Amino acid sequence: MFYLILSVIFLVFGVIAVAAFAVLIFSLFASNAYGAPYVPVERKNLRKILDLGNIKEDDVFCDLGSGDGRVIFEAIQVFNAKYGIGYEASIWPYYASVISLKLKGLGGKVRIFKKDFLRESGKEFERVSFVYTYTYPPLMKKISAYVLPNLKKGARILTVSFSLPEENGDFKIVKIGQVGWHKIFIYEKIV
Ligand SMILES: C[S@@+](CC[C@H](N)C(=O)[O-])C[C@H]1O[C@@H](n2cnc3c(N)ncnc32)[C@H](O)[C@@H]1O
Repeated sequence: MFYLILSVIFLVFGVIAVAAFAVLIFSLFASNAYGAPYVPVERKNLRKILDLGNIKEDDVFCDLGSGDGRVIFEAIQVFNAKYGIGYEASIWPYYASVISLKLKGLGGKVRIFKKDFLRESGKEFERVSFVYTYTYPPLMKKISAYVLPNLKKGARILTVSFSLPEENGDFKIVKIGQVGWHKIFIYEKIV
């Protein structure tokens, strides 16, 4: 009997471990398919990166491809942004962000969607005053074409490692910085 119970326990834990591993692998492939793998920005660099953005207390902050939510939480908890919005298409980082959101008790100030932000209605971005994104150039081109035109004049965008495509004349660059190995670009919408 003892060995039977032990076997069942091992079986259950084995199935859970295999399922978790499968979700992780699937998530990594899914992130890649959307155009940017899940590579979170390093925690040691996060504050310095956001510091360059001059986030204000009335900012509605949005992370396009929000990963485990760390950037939004920092914007709210450390930089006092008014509200945080995240879009994350991949299962693993999305659920990690939802668990952190609950543990931090930030439900009233942060909303994270399990959604491809390129499929979001443009209207949803109209209230966003600060966009953060850490993605690859091909996805940046799509963000530039589909998401950014919905922002209001004066909105800012902070990009990590890669700049906006040259042809986006709706934005002027206001700052370029370096944090660790990341180049940081900050733009302001001028039309
Ligand atoms: C490089 S990671 C950055 C994560 C987080 N923003 C950070 O700086 O730590 C890019 C994230 O964007 C997500 N992503 C890529 N394309 C997306 C899309 N179209 N809609 C929603 N999420 C997307 C990926 O799943 C991945 O988690």
